[in-house]
Amino acid sequence: MFDMRYAPHSPEGATLRNAPPVMTIRNLSLFYDEKQALDEVNFDLYSNEILAFIGPSGCGKSTALKCLNRMHDGTRGVRIVGDVCMDGHDIHDPAIDPPVHRRRFGWVAQKPNPFPTTIWENVAYGARIHGLMPNRAALAEHVELCLRRAHLWEEVKDNLHRQTGTELSGGQQQRLCIARALATQPDVLLMDEPTGSVDPIATARIEDLMLELREDHSVVVITHSMMQARRVADRVAYFHLGKLLEIGPTEMMFTAARTPEARAFIAGKFG
Ligand SMILES: Nc1ncnc2c1ncn2[C@@H]1O[C@H](COP(=O)(O)OP(=O)(O)O)[C@@H](O)[C@H]1O
Ligand SMILES: [Mg+2]
Repeated sequence: MFDMRYAPHSPEGATLRNAPPVMTIRNLSLFYDEKQALDEVNFDLYSNEILAFIGPSGCGKSTALKCLNRMHDGTRGVRIVGDVCMDGHDIHDPAIDPPVHRRRFGWVAQKPNPFPTTIWENVAYGARIHGLMPNRAALAEHVELCLRRAHLWEEVKDNLHRQTGTELSGGQQQRLCIARALATQPDVLLMDEPTGSVDPIATARIEDLMLELREDHSVVVITHSMMQARRVADRVAYFHLGKLLEIGPTEMMFTAARTPEARAFIAGKFG
Protein backbone atom coordinates (compact mmCIF):
# COMPACT_ATOMS: atom_id res chain seq x y z
CA MET A 1 0.00 0.00 0.00
CA PHE A 2 2.79 2.41 0.85
CA ASP A 3 4.97 1.81 -2.17
CA MET A 4 6.80 5.07 -2.60
CA ARG A 5 9.70 4.05 -4.73
CA TYR A 6 8.55 6.03 -7.73
CA ALA A 7 10.00 9.44 -8.48
CA PRO A 8 8.77 10.98 -11.72
CA HIS A 9 10.63 14.31 -11.47
CA SER A 10 13.94 12.97 -10.32
CA PRO A 11 16.94 12.76 -12.64
CA GLU A 12 16.51 9.05 -13.18
CA GLY A 13 12.94 9.60 -14.35
CA ALA A 14 10.18 7.14 -13.68
CA THR A 15 12.44 4.37 -12.51
CA LEU A 16 12.13 2.33 -9.38
CA ARG A 17 14.57 3.35 -6.70
CA ASN A 18 17.13 0.86 -5.61
CA ALA A 19 18.65 2.77 -2.68
CA PRO A 20 17.01 2.11 0.68
CA PRO A 21 15.09 5.00 2.26
CA VAL A 22 16.96 7.51 4.40
CA MET A 23 14.09 7.49 6.89
CA THR A 24 11.25 5.11 7.56
CA ILE A 25 8.30 6.26 9.64
CA ARG A 26 5.98 3.54 10.89
CA ASN A 27 2.74 3.83 12.88
CA LEU A 28 3.79 7.20 14.22
CA SER A 29 1.29 8.74 16.61
CA LEU A 30 1.79 11.87 18.67
CA PHE A 31 -0.18 13.27 21.58
CA TYR A 32 -0.04 16.80 22.99
CA ASP A 33 -1.22 15.87 26.48
CA GLU A 34 -4.64 14.27 25.80
CA LYS A 35 -4.94 15.62 22.28
CA GLN A 36 -3.90 13.28 19.50
CA ALA A 37 -2.21 15.23 16.71
CA LEU A 38 -0.81 12.32 14.63
CA ASP A 39 -2.56 9.02 14.08
CA GLU A 40 -0.55 6.06 12.79
CA VAL A 41 1.45 7.93 10.17
CA ASN A 42 3.54 5.85 7.73
CA PHE A 43 5.95 7.01 5.04
CA ASP A 44 9.48 6.63 3.75
CA LEU A 45 11.86 9.42 2.83
CA TYR A 46 14.48 8.89 0.15
CA SER A 47 17.64 10.74 -0.70
CA ASN A 48 17.48 13.10 -3.65
CA GLU A 49 13.77 13.67 -3.43
CA ILE A 50 11.48 16.52 -2.53
CA LEU A 51 8.52 15.28 -0.54
CA ALA A 52 5.74 17.83 -0.03
CA PHE A 53 3.33 17.67 2.92
CA ILE A 54 -0.04 19.18 2.06
CA GLY A 55 -3.38 19.31 3.83
CA PRO A 56 -5.69 21.64 5.73
CA SER A 57 -4.41 23.75 8.64
CA GLY A 58 -4.11 21.87 11.90
CA CYS A 59 -3.91 18.42 10.27
CA GLY A 60 -0.48 17.62 11.74
CA LYS A 61 2.00 18.58 9.03
CA SER A 62 4.32 20.65 11.24
CA THR A 63 3.96 18.13 14.06
CA ALA A 64 5.06 15.32 11.73
CA LEU A 65 8.00 17.35 10.39
CA LYS A 66 9.25 18.00 13.92
CA CYS A 67 9.23 14.28 14.70
CA LEU A 68 11.95 13.68 12.12
CA ASN A 69 14.64 15.73 13.86
CA ARG A 70 13.34 15.19 17.40
CA MET A 71 12.31 18.78 17.73
CA HIS A 72 9.56 17.78 20.18
CA ASP A 73 12.18 16.62 22.68
CA GLY A 74 11.97 19.66 24.90
CA THR A 75 8.18 20.08 24.76
CA ARG A 76 6.29 19.08 27.89
CA GLY A 77 3.29 16.83 27.50
CA VAL A 78 4.34 15.41 24.14
CA ARG A 79 4.09 11.64 23.82
CA ILE A 80 5.32 9.86 20.71
CA VAL A 81 4.39 6.28 19.78
CA GLY A 82 5.69 4.29 16.82
CA ASP A 83 8.96 3.97 14.97
CA VAL A 84 11.10 6.56 13.26
CA CYS A 85 14.29 5.14 11.78
CA MET A 86 17.15 6.85 10.01
CA ASP A 87 19.62 4.72 8.08
CA GLY A 88 17.97 1.74 9.72
CA HIS A 89 18.46 2.96 13.31
CA ASP A 90 15.69 3.96 15.69
CA ILE A 91 16.15 7.71 16.26
CA HIS A 92 14.78 7.36 19.82
CA ASP A 93 17.30 4.71 20.80
CA PRO A 94 19.02 5.85 24.02
CA ALA A 95 22.35 5.37 22.24
CA ILE A 96 21.47 8.26 19.88
CA ASP A 97 22.81 11.63 20.98
CA PRO A 98 19.99 14.11 20.16
CA PRO A 99 22.27 17.01 19.10
CA VAL A 100 24.21 14.69 16.80
CA HIS A 101 20.93 13.45 15.31
CA ARG A 102 19.61 16.99 14.94
CA ARG A 103 22.72 18.12 13.11
CA ARG A 104 21.76 15.86 10.21
CA PHE A 105 18.80 18.16 9.57
CA GLY A 106 18.48 21.74 8.44
CA TRP A 107 15.31 23.58 9.45
CA VAL A 108 13.78 26.45 7.51
CA ALA A 109 10.74 28.16 9.04
CA GLN A 110 7.95 30.12 7.41
CA LYS A 111 9.05 33.45 8.77
CA PRO A 112 12.73 34.08 8.11
CA ASN A 113 14.40 34.06 11.52
CA PRO A 114 18.04 35.09 11.09
CA PHE A 115 20.07 35.67 14.23
CA PRO A 116 20.49 39.38 15.04
CA THR A 117 24.20 38.95 14.36
CA THR A 118 26.32 39.51 11.28
CA ILE A 119 25.68 37.63 8.06
CA TRP A 120 28.97 35.82 8.61
CA GLU A 121 28.05 34.81 12.14
CA ASN A 122 24.63 33.51 11.06
CA VAL A 123 26.31 30.95 8.81
CA ALA A 124 29.52 30.29 10.75
CA TYR A 125 27.73 29.55 14.03
CA GLY A 126 26.47 26.02 13.34
CA ALA A 127 29.72 24.86 11.79
CA ARG A 128 31.66 26.31 14.70
CA ILE A 129 29.61 24.84 17.56
CA HIS A 130 29.83 21.42 15.97
CA GLY A 131 33.56 21.82 15.30
CA LEU A 132 33.14 20.98 11.63
CA MET A 133 35.98 23.11 10.29
CA PRO A 134 39.60 22.72 11.43
CA ASN A 135 40.53 26.41 11.29
CA ARG A 136 39.41 29.91 10.47
CA ALA A 137 40.41 29.70 6.78
CA ALA A 138 38.38 26.51 6.31
CA LEU A 139 35.46 28.12 8.11
CA ALA A 140 35.65 31.16 5.82
CA GLU A 141 35.57 28.89 2.79
CA HIS A 142 32.64 26.98 4.23
CA VAL A 143 30.67 30.17 4.93
CA GLU A 144 31.26 31.27 1.34
CA LEU A 145 30.20 27.89 -0.02
CA CYS A 146 26.96 27.88 2.00
CA LEU A 147 26.14 31.43 0.91
CA ARG A 148 26.91 30.54 -2.71
CA ARG A 149 24.72 27.46 -2.54
CA ALA A 150 21.91 29.61 -1.17
CA HIS A 151 22.47 32.08 -4.04
CA LEU A 152 23.14 34.91 -1.62
CA TRP A 153 26.93 35.31 -1.86
CA GLU A 154 27.05 37.93 -4.61
CA GLU A 155 24.57 40.14 -2.75
CA VAL A 156 26.30 40.04 0.62
CA LYS A 157 29.99 39.27 0.08
CA ASP A 158 31.10 42.85 0.76
CA ASN A 159 29.09 43.16 3.97
CA LEU A 160 29.62 39.82 5.69
CA HIS A 161 30.92 41.36 8.90
CA ARG A 162 29.18 44.70 8.66
CA GLN A 163 25.52 43.91 8.04
CA THR A 164 23.28 41.88 10.33
CA GLY A 165 20.99 39.15 9.05
CA THR A 166 17.96 41.11 10.15
CA GLU A 167 18.95 44.06 7.93
CA LEU A 168 18.44 42.04 4.74
CA SER A 169 15.21 41.95 2.71
CA GLY A 170 12.69 39.19 3.48
CA GLY A 171 13.72 37.06 0.52
CA GLN A 172 17.41 37.54 1.32
CA GLN A 173 16.77 36.65 4.96
CA GLN A 174 15.15 33.39 3.90
CA ARG A 175 18.14 32.55 1.68
CA LEU A 176 20.40 33.39 4.63
CA CYS A 177 18.39 30.96 6.76
CA ILE A 178 18.88 28.32 4.08
CA ALA A 179 22.64 29.05 4.05
CA ARG A 180 22.60 28.70 7.84
CA ALA A 181 20.70 25.41 7.55
CA LEU A 182 23.35 24.13 5.12
CA ALA A 183 26.20 25.11 7.43
CA THR A 184 25.95 21.95 9.54
CA GLN A 185 26.14 19.79 6.40
CA PRO A 186 22.73 18.19 6.88
CA ASP A 187 21.39 15.19 4.97
CA VAL A 188 17.77 16.30 5.21
CA LEU A 189 16.23 19.75 4.86
CA LEU A 190 12.96 20.33 6.66
CA MET A 191 11.07 23.36 5.37
CA ASP A 192 7.85 24.49 7.03
CA GLU A 193 6.15 26.77 4.50
CA PRO A 194 9.49 28.32 3.48
CA THR A 195 7.91 30.71 0.99
CA GLY A 196 4.85 31.51 3.09
CA SER A 197 6.00 35.02 3.86
CA VAL A 198 8.10 36.08 0.87
CA ASP A 199 7.12 37.68 -2.45
CA PRO A 200 6.66 35.77 -5.74
CA ILE A 201 10.16 36.54 -7.04
CA ALA A 202 11.76 35.36 -3.81
CA THR A 203 9.48 32.32 -3.93
CA ALA A 204 10.70 31.42 -7.42
CA ARG A 205 14.32 31.72 -6.29
CA ILE A 206 13.73 29.53 -3.26
CA GLU A 207 11.94 26.92 -5.36
CA ASP A 208 14.90 26.83 -7.78
CA LEU A 209 17.19 26.46 -4.80
CA MET A 210 15.14 23.54 -3.45
CA LEU A 211 15.50 21.76 -6.78
CA GLU A 212 19.27 22.25 -6.64
CA LEU A 213 19.49 21.08 -3.04
CA ARG A 214 17.67 17.89 -3.97
CA GLU A 215 20.81 16.79 -5.81
CA ASP A 216 22.48 15.98 -2.51
CA HIS A 217 19.77 16.14 0.14
CA SER A 218 16.32 14.89 0.99
CA VAL A 219 13.91 17.79 1.23
CA VAL A 220 10.59 17.70 3.08
CA VAL A 221 8.57 20.83 2.44
CA ILE A 222 5.23 21.84 3.89
CA THR A 223 3.33 24.05 1.50
CA HIS A 224 -0.10 25.58 1.20
CA SER A 225 0.49 26.23 -2.47
CA MET A 226 -0.71 23.41 -4.67
CA MET A 227 1.15 25.08 -7.56
CA GLN A 228 4.35 24.96 -5.56
CA ALA A 229 3.86 21.30 -4.66
CA ARG A 230 3.29 20.52 -8.30
CA ARG A 231 6.33 22.52 -9.44
CA VAL A 232 8.89 21.14 -7.02
CA ALA A 233 7.78 17.91 -5.38
CA ASP A 234 8.63 14.40 -6.51
CA ARG A 235 6.02 13.00 -4.17
CA VAL A 236 3.16 14.48 -2.21
CA ALA A 237 1.77 13.35 1.14
CA TYR A 238 -1.76 14.43 2.00
CA PHE A 239 -2.49 14.86 5.73
CA HIS A 240 -6.02 14.95 7.10
CA LEU A 241 -7.00 15.17 10.78
CA GLY A 242 -3.67 13.78 11.94
CA LYS A 243 -3.58 10.92 9.46
CA LEU A 244 -1.38 10.66 6.42
CA LEU A 245 -4.26 9.66 4.17
CA GLU A 246 -2.41 9.28 0.92
CA ILE A 247 1.08 9.57 -0.51
CA GLY A 248 2.22 9.18 -4.07
CA PRO A 249 4.06 10.61 -7.07
CA THR A 250 3.13 14.26 -7.60
CA GLU A 251 1.47 13.85 -10.99
CA MET A 252 -0.56 10.92 -9.76
CA MET A 253 -1.71 12.85 -6.68
CA PHE A 254 -2.75 15.82 -8.81
CA THR A 255 -4.53 13.84 -11.48
CA ALA A 256 -5.72 10.63 -9.88
CA ALA A 257 -5.62 10.79 -6.08
CA ARG A 258 -7.29 7.75 -4.61
CA THR A 259 -8.98 9.30 -1.58
CA PRO A 260 -11.94 11.69 -2.00
CA GLU A 261 -10.47 13.94 0.73
CA ALA A 262 -7.18 14.43 -1.15
CA ARG A 263 -9.02 14.95 -4.43
CA ALA A 264 -11.28 17.60 -2.88
CA PHE A 265 -8.41 19.38 -1.14
CA ILE A 266 -6.26 19.44 -4.26
CA ALA A 267 -9.22 20.76 -6.25
CA GLY A 268 -9.45 23.63 -3.76
CA LYS A 269 -12.81 22.59 -2.30
CA PHE A 270 -11.61 23.16 1.27
CA GLY A 271 -8.45 24.17 3.00
N1 LIG B 1 2.52 22.63 21.18
C1 LIG B 1 1.27 22.21 21.00
N2 LIG B 1 0.47 21.92 22.04
C2 LIG B 1 -0.80 21.49 21.87
N3 LIG B 1 -1.38 21.30 20.68
C3 LIG B 1 -0.65 21.56 19.58
C4 LIG B 1 0.70 22.04 19.68
N4 LIG B 1 1.18 22.22 18.43
C5 LIG B 1 0.17 21.87 17.60
N5 LIG B 1 -0.92 21.49 18.28
C6 LIG B 1 -2.19 21.00 17.71
O1 LIG B 1 -1.93 19.83 16.96
C7 LIG B 1 -2.68 19.83 15.75
C8 LIG B 1 -1.73 19.76 14.56
O2 LIG B 1 -1.02 20.98 14.50
P1 LIG B 1 0.10 21.26 13.40
O3 LIG B 1 1.00 20.10 13.31
O4 LIG B 1 0.70 22.58 13.71
O5 LIG B 1 -0.79 21.34 12.07
P2 LIG B 1 -0.42 21.94 10.61
O6 LIG B 1 1.05 22.18 10.57
O7 LIG B 1 -0.89 20.89 9.66
O8 LIG B 1 -1.22 23.19 10.46
C9 LIG B 1 -3.53 21.09 15.79
O9 LIG B 1 -4.77 20.75 16.29
C10 LIG B 1 -2.78 22.00 16.74
O10 LIG B 1 -3.66 22.89 17.37
MG1 LIG C 1 2.07 23.98 10.31
